[in-house]
Amino acid sequence: MGIRPSVYVKDLGKHVGKEVTLKGWLYNKRSSGKLKFLIMRDGSGYVQCVVFKGNVADEVFENADKLTQESSFEVTGKVKVEPRSVGGYELDATDVKIISIAQEYPITPKEHGIEFLIDNRHLWVRSKKQIAILKIRARIVKAIRDFFDSRGFVLFDPPIITPNACEGTSTLFEMEYFDLGKAYLTQSGQLYAESGAMALGKVYTFGPTFRAEKSKTRRHLTEFWMVEPEMAFYDLDDDMDLAEEFLEYIVQCVLTDKQEELKELERDTTKLECVKRPFPRISYTEAVELLKKKGNDFQWGNDFGGADETLIGEEFDRPVMIHRYPSEIKAFYMKRDPENPKVALAVDVIAPEGYGEIIGGSQREDNLDFLLERIKEHNLPQSFFEWYLDLRRFGSVPHSGFGLGLERTVSWICGLDHLREAIPFPRMIYRNTP
Ligand code: 4AD
Ligand code: MG
Repeated sequence: MGIRPSVYVKDLGKHVGKEVTLKGWLYNKRSSGKLKFLIMRDGSGYVQCVVFKGNVADEVFENADKLTQESSFEVTGKVKVEPRSVGGYELDATDVKIISIAQEYPITPKEHGIEFLIDNRHLWVRSKKQIAILKIRARIVKAIRDFFDSRGFVLFDPPIITPNACEGTSTLFEMEYFDLGKAYLTQSGQLYAESGAMALGKVYTFGPTFRAEKSKTRRHLTEFWMVEPEMAFYDLDDDMDLAEEFLEYIVQCVLTDKQEELKELERDTTKLECVKRPFPRISYTEAVELLKKKGNDFQWGNDFGGADETLIGEEFDRPVMIHRYPSEIKAFYMKRDPENPKVALAVDVIAPEGYGEIIGGSQREDNLDFLLERIKEHNLPQSFFEWYLDLRRFGSVPHSGFGLGLERTVSWICGLDHLREAIPFPRMIYRNTP
């Protein structure tokens, strides 16, 4: 027979005037004489259930009285339209059955410190704001998949355990791998995606990636999700066109489908409505000039820090694409600009409103000899990269790609202060629980 609910709160509109049974948890309760107002949440939404002493058996009224915050229960009643009530409907309860009475719940409507909340992350995810964020995250993931799936890209899953670094050796999580020596958790699926692009033309990877970030900032996690498209026969301009279309699409999907959640988060959506193509494109050198004009004593050749990115991002009402960074500060696989070998054909996309870098990408070095030079310059063990070099030995073509950080994107779209709320269980330098 099964015990699954036949109706969920989000579908109450289809049952007006009818009797339904809902299953969920007590979000909140108010009493006034012979009336009890129970706010039930069932994951799909919230609904106020009104229990009137005169309408129900004594036992039912007592059950309603016994319910504590987060107790699980079942309620039966007639669905009424009630514009003043949360969600727009109300339930005239005829029956209340207790499933499990919750002990004193640690998260109350009063303010809690952030450490306390993260210690209780397994419960904190039940809170209204957290539910809104998690729903938006899921919508963004779907938008990402839909975008690539509908444009001829093939999902290509790279390994998580890898023998070498991809994005510099300073942020590698190391492990002993049986008799084979050291192995590492992947920092990026890109190198593998490149082999996929040579096989399938256009691919994307999407999964968890790892960085042993020593930085304790609001923009860094040690485990985060990244989506990485990689395309054969794309140059840097094509890469930027794709990134721009992609970001516009994601933001528009959230605006279309997640208004209620954005409202719960008090997000200023006028800022998101600006996220339309074309995005401004400036070179690194122009970005340095901009910083100098703003009184920042920035030297050409340095990498932008979080504060610099914020300053640059504030200049624009939509994401800004910064291209052609000094090759010295960028990864070994990036192609140098044939017109100026001091810079790499790289692009970073900086989100507006101070959210910093959300995308990093580039055109890849497709020349075997140049790539060999880069591997030597970066002191990388050539033997581990032989397979990667093969991609240049067997039908090398110009190709490009980028990586979008999911949590940075969620954080920006939701207007969060810190990445830790953008993922169900954040992993940071000082935290790996719960
Ligand atoms: O700029 P990154 O390091 O680029 C790459 O990994 C390339 N292999 C991508 C590619 O071309 N296929 O990282 C890409 C994005 C960043 O822009 C940022 O959004 C996110 O990944 N990111 C992080 N997010 C959370 N915590 C961290 N520690 C992150 N490091 C990077
Ligand atoms: Mg980057």
